[in-house]
Amino acid sequence: MSSLIRPQRDGQGFRLESRSVLETDTRRVDHIMGADLNTEVGNRIRQRRALVKMDQAALASRLDVPVSVVQGWESGSGAQPLDLTGLADVATALSTSIADLVPAPEDDLTDGVRLQLPDEDSSIVGSRGGVDYYVYRCLVRSPSVPMLIPLVVDVLVDDRERAEFNGGHAGHEFIYVMEGSVHMQWGDEAAPKTADLPTGASIYISPYVSHTFTALDGRNARLLAVNF
Ligand SMILES: [Fe+2]
Repeated sequence: MSSLIRPQRDGQGFRLESRSVLETDTRRVDHIMGADLNTEVGNRIRQRRALVKMDQAALASRLDVPVSVVQGWESGSGAQPLDLTGLADVATALSTSIADLVPAPEDDLTDGVRLQLPDEDSSIVGSRGGVDYYVYRCLVRSPSVPMLIPLVVDVLVDDRERAEFNGGHAGHEFIYVMEGSVHMQWGDEAAPKTADLPTGASIYISPYVSHTFTALDGRNARLLAVNF
């Protein structure tokens, strides 16, 4: 049978079906962009400069700016705002990365636990080859564990001839077939390995191994996928 289980609107890439991720991201940006940001970045520049045994004049000379500009950054006055390029230049001059000069993400754990209620999750449509291929439901995540990406994935395409490989991705992946059954292909697209996997099967995929899933038997298939 050649069909899409759930025909969707046109478009490439990802489409948010819920606002919750955007709202969460906005709160995070508010945290980082708050009034304390200049002070925090200034403190980190000063601490890093002291660590590498460089005085303000030396840093200013490396960046070809007046010493007063460096003093302004370190005081957190905001009088000499640093854009992304400027921050990258400061990081390079101090032999470090931007990540070392900006506040770490807020820890959202409560006594070591992060809960996500059903109304907090969000769905994203992943398109491949011009068709909607998967629907990803985003499960609980925390900046404390940045590599953890748990998802419930609905497999929309049930025609293996229309399978689209992903080219592989960073991180290890664990998959559990929650509902239905899937046809998995992986490796060399021209001569892929294949397997038919029923409900209850589980899979481990190494980083950067190209893979794809299509549903079997014309039924909806649902996977639990955890990238880490
Ligand atoms: Fe994957």
